[in-house]
Amino acid sequence: MPPTLTTRTGGQIAPIIPALAALRCQVFRDWPYLYDGDEAYERRYLRIYADSPRAAVIVATDGDEIVGASTCLPLTDETDAVTAPFLARRIDPARVFYFGESVLREDHRGRGTGVAFFAAREAHARASSVCDFAAFASVIRPPDHPARPSGHTGLDAFWTRRGYTRRDGLICHMAWKDVGDAAETEKPLVFWMKSLTGAPLP
Ligand SMILES: CC(C)(COP(=O)(O)OP(=O)(O)OC[C@H]1O[C@@H](n2cnc3c(N)ncnc32)[C@H](O)[C@@H]1OP(=O)(O)O)[C@@H](O)C(=O)NCCC(=O)NCCS
Repeated sequence: MPPTLTTRTGGQIAPIIPALAALRCQVFRDWPYLYDGDEAYERRYLRIYADSPRAAVIVATDGDEIVGASTCLPLTDETDAVTAPFLARRIDPARVFYFGESVLREDHRGRGTGVAFFAAREAHARASSVCDFAAFASVIRPPDHPARPSGHTGLDAFWTRRGYTRRDGLICHMAWKDVGDAAETEKPLVFWMKSLTGAPLP
């Protein structure tokens, strides 16, 4: 059976932050994120969703256990690092609903939850906003990165099938410590966008 999905908003988000922080640290250790996560930092970061009245977390559960989650919020409630590339391209952040991350424990993958995460976030964005676009960001790693697994296909085809288009001119930067590194380094992330209303992509 695939996990059960529930959309949490408002005051329903704060109680699950510790579980989400742990899940993110576990899942994002893998390629291409290689994130040497810190749960205390994660809990602070995830407050952004608890504090945003129109944010949602789609939670995947197996019985009582949280095995996956997918986040979204209006871009206007995101940090300057995320909104800056939109402002630089004169795209009004008020037109964009930002999809944070999807994480699913490995033993629950391949049963349609990733597809359902997108459908649930798009439904939430349409129900709670008049945003024209959904957008998310994907880390760019050099083609010759030593940790790249051989034969890795990545998620580009999956995102394209969901109707998203890579916008090469929209790049933001985020810093984190890669597994095995001593210090944080900054990484570029490219945005992918989809029209929710039929408005042409900027
Ligand atoms: C992304 C993720 C949530 C997808 O979850 P999932 O439940 O396994 O996905 P689904 O079963 O709905 O499969 C969706 C599609 O993606 C493909 N797919 C899933 N995981 C894939 C992977 N790791 N590599 C390549 N393709 C993958 C499936 O073949 C399927 O193809 P379709 O479009 O023809 O249906 C999950 O793989 C995950 O947690 N990955 C690690 C974190 C991550 O990369 N998150 C995304 C960016 S934040």
